[in-house]
Formats: sequence, structure tokens, C-alpha cells
Amino acid sequence: MRVAILFGGRSAEHDVSRASAANVLRALDPDRYEATAIGITRDGRWIVVPAGNGAGTGSGALTIPDDGPRLALLPGGQGRALALEGHGVQELPAFDVVFPVLHGPNGEDGTVQGALELSDVAYVGSRVMGSAAAMDKDFAKRLMREAGLPVVPCVVVSAAAPITYDAAVSALGSQEVFVKPANMGSSVGVSKARTAAEFDACCRLAFRFDSKILVERCIAPIREVECSVLEDAEGRVRASELGEIVPSDKHGFYSYDAKYLDAEGALLRVPADVKPAIADQIQELAIRTFTVLGCEGMARIDFFLHGEQAYVNEANTLPGFTNISMYPRLWEASGLPQPQLMDVLIGHAMA
Ligand code: DAL
Ligand code: MG
Repeated sequence: MRVAILFGGRSAEHDVSRASAANVLRALDPDRYEATAIGITRDGRWIVVPAGNGAGTGSGALTIPDDGPRLALLPGGQGRALALEGHGVQELPAFDVVFPVLHGPNGEDGTVQGALELSDVAYVGSRVMGSAAAMDKDFAKRLMREAGLPVVPCVVVSAAAPITYDAAVSALGSQEVFVKPANMGSSVGVSKARTAAEFDACCRLAFRFDSKILVERCIAPIREVECSVLEDAEGRVRASELGEIVPSDKHGFYSYDAKYLDAEGALLRVPADVKPAIADQIQELAIRTFTVLGCEGMARIDFFLHGEQAYVNEANTLPGFTNISMYPRLWEASGLPQPQLMDVLIGHAMA
């Protein structure tokens, strides 16, 4: 089966995607899949990556050459693609399935999924609606609240109508608040404010990544717990064992640096040390969140746990597959090794 792995992309999570893609490539059984890696440069060009690039390096990330055959999927082409080289055009054999290993805007938010729909090719993961709904934290929270799922209170702020720290504090009832871009991942642009001056700096940072931001009540103390959800080719949806993330004190929360830049930035505990009844409740909430947001194939649902009260933080429809990433790790802990996880994801895409 010919699989195209799409990675890189135009979002601030470009580097995370390069690391995820190396692991996805490594996990695909070469006896079953003929994989082609297609890197999307930061400025949006699709470039076919030479075979062997980064594969098998384990900790490495795929790299995208500056130049090379540029690729275009044919609208209505059922996976046929054109490689453009110099002034020549070469038609490639059709891909059977595309695995978008892209994170953040222009990859995880329904845009690439829309292009794949137009190309009439099977692809892994959520389609346009689920991708878009889960990516936008404002819309996701509205859908979750409407369905009765527990979410942390927030106010949504646009660049055109900013609010003061005092207004945010009185709306949320806490002095300490998180400020987040509405559409982003890996905690890029997320920071915490306790004063008006910090709040202004946090808003400026978040607005660098989106024109809409969320100011969220900071609940303390909290534990961060994650659950992987997987849908098979028959439409059966299941939840994995839970994992817990314990950020080191120096980071304060599971920031981008704590995730990817500091090897000791966070401790990952799998399975999470929570009472069985709470674990059951979180797994059920994870499946409900997956359904409410219209996710398909896979998602990692992230929770805050305050005492015994669980809050859904967010859903990630193309969760990280890096060496430290929870999505594949939780499935391993649940008895599904990565090569078999790939089979289920691709099986769902082809169904
Ligand atoms: N957005 C990152 C890749 C994650 O959720 O794992
Ligand atoms: Mg996320």
C-alpha cells in the first residue's frame, strides 16, 4: 500500500511535526507499506523528501530539502500526484492513503483535510469538521459546554476588542490566569499572568499567533492527565490507559520548553496514578469529547484534574508522535504497539 506522510507545515509546530513524522515513518511496517515522505516547507511548498531521510534514526527529525521535486495532489485524482521538477511534470503512481502528521494551523485545523477531500484520497484522522472544531479552543469549548462536558471558564478576546486584566479577573474570579492563542498547539504562545503588566505581555505574546485569544481561569492545584482515543475501521471508539504529566517546578506548567527543549522539563507517568473510578470517568469523558467535537480516527484528549474534579482541557486531532509523545505511548501501555496502531489508523482511513 502506498502511504504519503505529510509533515512540516506552515505552523509554529513545524519542528514538532518533523520529529513526529520520523517516528511515524519508523513505525510503518515496510513489508506492508511503501511510504513517501512529503515535507511542507515553512512557506508552504510541498517537497518530496528522499527515501531514508531521518528514517530509523530513532530520536531524529525528518529534514526538508530546500529544493527538490515539488508535489501537487490532483483534484479528484484519487491519490494521483504530480511532481514538478524544473519545467517538467512527472505523474507519480497514486497514493492509497495520506497520513497528515501535521500539527497546528494549516495542518490539523481542517485546511489540509479539505485539500485531501478535493483530491479524493483516503487520509488518516479527522475530516474537515472535527479537525476545525477541535483546533479552535473557543469553538471547541462552546461545543463541549453545550454538551455538558466540564471545561475551565474562560473569556474570549479579539485583537479588535482587548480587555483589561481587572476585567478578566472579575469575569473569571481568579487573580492568576492563563492566556492562550485560540488556534495553536504544543503550548506555543501560552503563558500565565498574575499582574496587569504580566497580563499585557501575555496577551501580546498570544496575539502573535492568532487574532483571537482565550483568557482562562487558572485552577490550582491541578494535575495534567491525558487519554488517547482511537476509532477502528468498524467505527468502534476506545480509550487508552491514562498518562500524567508532571512539569518540573522551574517551568510551572507544561510549556513548549518543558515539552520539547528541556529533557528534564516534565516527568511522564504511564499509567497515571489515579483512582480506578476517576480513570473510568476520564476515559468516558474522553470518548464523549471525541464524539461531541466530531473527531474521527484518533485524538488525544487532555484533562486537568483538581482533586476529583476532571475538566476537559482540549482535544488534539493530530497529536504528537515524537519520542516523548503520549499518544503512541499510551497505546503501547494499553497493549497496542506502534506498528499495530499504524494499521488501525490506516485501516480506519481506508474504510
Ligand atoms: N500539538 C502537539 C503536537 C500535541 O498535542 O501533542
Ligand atoms: Mg493541543
